[in-house]
Amino acid sequence: MTTPLVQRFADRTAFVEAAAADLVDRMADAIAARGTCRIALGGGSTPRPVFERTAAADLSTRIDWTRVHIFFGDERCVPPDHEASNYRMADQALVARLGSKNKPHVHRIDGELPPPEAARAYAAELGDAPLDVVLLGMGNDGHTASLFPGRPEAGERSARVVAARGPNAPVERVSLTLRAINEARAVRFWVTGEDKAERIVQVFREIESGAPALPAAQVQPTSGDLVWFLDDAAAARL
Ligand code: 6PG
Repeated sequence: MTTPLVQRFADRTAFVEAAAADLVDRMADAIAARGTCRIALGGGSTPRPVFERTAAADLSTRIDWTRVHIFFGDERCVPPDHEASNYRMADQALVARLGSKNKPHVHRIDGELPPPEAARAYAAELGDAPLDVVLLGMGNDGHTASLFPGRPEAGERSARVVAARGPNAPVERVSLTLRAINEARAVRFWVTGEDKAERIVQVFREIESGAPALPAAQVQPTSGDLVWFLDDAAAARL
């Protein structure tokens, strides 16, 4: 039986501060250990304020971003300038705010391609080396990345990247699989808001029972460390 490791914060500000500081620490550890950091950024809306905080000089200058390879945990199959693009959100909130001489290598999922083709191209770019850091969110249905409950790709354990489908537009997606996520050296869930509180209880119960069914509950890194960063609203029913 495993008990999820949780860091809980009284409000959104404290959550953002802690998540950004932890992110920079994990990236600095990877660069110190291996000379580079391969990180998969999370999508949706929760990461935006944390990326903006990370881009602030007091944190961002702790990282040699030229040694960082940015990947994405998932992407909606839309152009990079589309409002739903996870790439666009990360570029606006983080990459574009970094100094011109301190830019990371960004490996975008090509949302304009047909999903299977985009997944093949991204898998080739991602390669077989484990990611150092994977940042995840959780939907209130228990999905993570673009692995949705009941979808066949959520059960994929040989490929590291899959074409996926979500219940709401943009339906077509590309996502890391649980294999790629669970191979990572450090995995972080960033979950906030009261609307996630009930599902957090179910996910934690599934983890503790040893019978994880929801995709978010199946994130159990083989050897990497996993920490759930929650604000009090999301943790309210624990
Ligand atoms: C996506 C994300 C997805 C997200 C959750 C939570 O592309 O939508 O990768 O897994 O993390 O849906 O989204 P919010 O942070 O917007 O609640």
